[in-house]
Amino acid sequence: MKIVEAILKSSKVDAVKSALVKVGVRGLTVVDVNGFGNKKAEREIYRGAEFTPEFVPMVNMRVIVGDDEAQRAIDTIVGTSQTGKAGDGIIFVGGISELVRISTGETGEKAL
Ligand SMILES: Nc1ncnc2c1ncn2[C@@H]1O[C@H](COP(=O)(O)OP(=O)(O)OP(=O)(O)O)[C@@H](O)[C@H]1O
Ligand SMILES: [Mg+2]
Repeated sequence: MKIVEAILKSSKVDAVKSALVKVGVRGLTVVDVNGFGNKKAEREIYRGAEFTPEFVPMVNMRVIVGDDEAQRAIDTIVGTSQTGKAGDGIIFVGGISELVRISTGETGEKAL
């Protein structure tokens, strides 16, 4: 199993959720977060000014999928949320060593 995490603009979250459901995702979690990227830094360094990043509100979407579903989830998130402008966010992926479905006690991919 893999956990696909995306840091997204909140305006894209509903569209990404719908697209992921269409490709078979059976659950996900969203958390409101604040962060900063590097775009502004480049501009400020270019001007020679000191850079103090400011936090911007984003949404962290987390979806746990089977190993063979991770790439499709990534492609779906990019395809739905990419504007081509700076600040669209990032996606990162980690391995999940165990999952337990609390209602049944099932474990592993059966628990998804
Ligand atoms: N290295 C990082 N580690 C953790 N979170 C990050 C990282 N880079 C970006 N983020 C998160 O993604 C959000 C959007 O950053 P993003 O990288 O999309 O913007 P940017 O760097 O300004 O522009 P660009 O699209 O050119 O990278 C940030 O506000 C932050 O929450
Ligand atoms: Mg960036």
